Amino acid sequence: MAKTVKTIGVLTSGGDAPGMNAAIRAVVRAAIAKGMKVKGIMRGYAGLLQEEIIDMESTSVSDTINRGGTILYTARCTEFTTEEGQKQGAEICRKHGIDGIVVIGGDGSFRGAGKLSALGVNTIGVPGTIDLDIACTDYTIGFDTAVNTAMDAIDKVRDTSTSHERCSIIEVMGRHAGYIALWCGIANGAEDILLPERYDGNEQMLINRIIENRKRGKKHNIIINAEGIGHSASMARRIEAATGIETRATILGHMQRGGTPTCKDRVYATIMGAKAVELLASGRSNRVMAYKNGNYVDFDIQEALAMTKDIPEDQYDISKMMSR
Ligand code: ADP
Ligand code: F6P
Repeated sequence: MAKTVKTIGVLTSGGDAPGMNAAIRAVVRAAIAKGMKVKGIMRGYAGLLQEEIIDMESTSVSDTINRGGTILYTARCTEFTTEEGQKQGAEICRKHGIDGIVVIGGDGSFRGAGKLSALGVNTIGVPGTIDLDIACTDYTIGFDTAVNTAMDAIDKVRDTSTSHERCSIIEVMGRHAGYIALWCGIANGAEDILLPERYDGNEQMLINRIIENRKRGKKHNIIINAEGIGHSASMARRIEAATGIETRATILGHMQRGGTPTCKDRVYATIMGAKAVELLASGRSNRVMAYKNGNYVDFDIQEALAMTKDIPEDQYDISKMMSR
């Protein structure tokens, strides 16, 4: 018979993402509805080790569903990657009567969650990252808001790019993953999309296409460059020198991580947060919430971390077809 979970903790870890507050709110209210107590752990694993732990009531999450960022703050914590740090974290959970934790974050945060689970603290991960780079799930909290924010910004750059008949390189977030770049590339009708997973560094090809596009009468030339490739400013200088077409670089940066979450992010985050509590209530541990093939499901953390995902080739091909 599974041990009854009486008190659960909730934390956000790694890069923040719009919709994390909706997930925290769902965890708090779903747990209270099941008669559990809730403790908020501030600043991810760093706050756990510092015992920055607060009691949370239903009203602690009032007025948060529409807010970007995370009311629990977030951090990266090297100490927690050590065995000693993890044991200390599990000990602190026991000291505070926390017998289950919901960890909202990315793959790194789930590795930490897996360690806590192995040390006897029931743990459930909820995927929160704007990068969409968690293999077990088709959806991650924050991606929808981030791509909509980036899309709006790129539309604005496009206006001025067309007016001045310039080439624009717009850098979007994604150090290792090109999903934001791919989606913006399709949604903004970019002439080229540079993805960390695909770009071979062949700048001459880009230059040839810009010249060709200009000959075909295109007034602007939008290149979406993922952060993982970077060097947008120097790329712009080289392209301008090679084509004779004025070229500007715009780096969208952290604006993509903030702002009011979209409807989709609020709804999916709420459902995943509530379902994470259901898992804990039914005695489950070491699971990650996911949205896969149209259903909310959960996976074993280690199995989830072993999964891989790549840019869908057909979508990438369509993006190229649309830009010609
Ligand atoms: P994300 O969760 O967005 O992938 P990070 O990779 O920065 O972000 O991980 C967030 C935090 O998770 C790290 O700062 C660290 O505290 C914890 N973490 C990452 N990897 C591990 C690991 N192998 N073991 C334990 N904790 C880890
Ligand atoms: O949240 C994911 C992400 O935005 C990545 O795309 C990016 O590489 C990273 O976070 C940057 O995070 P920070 O600037 O907080 O170190």
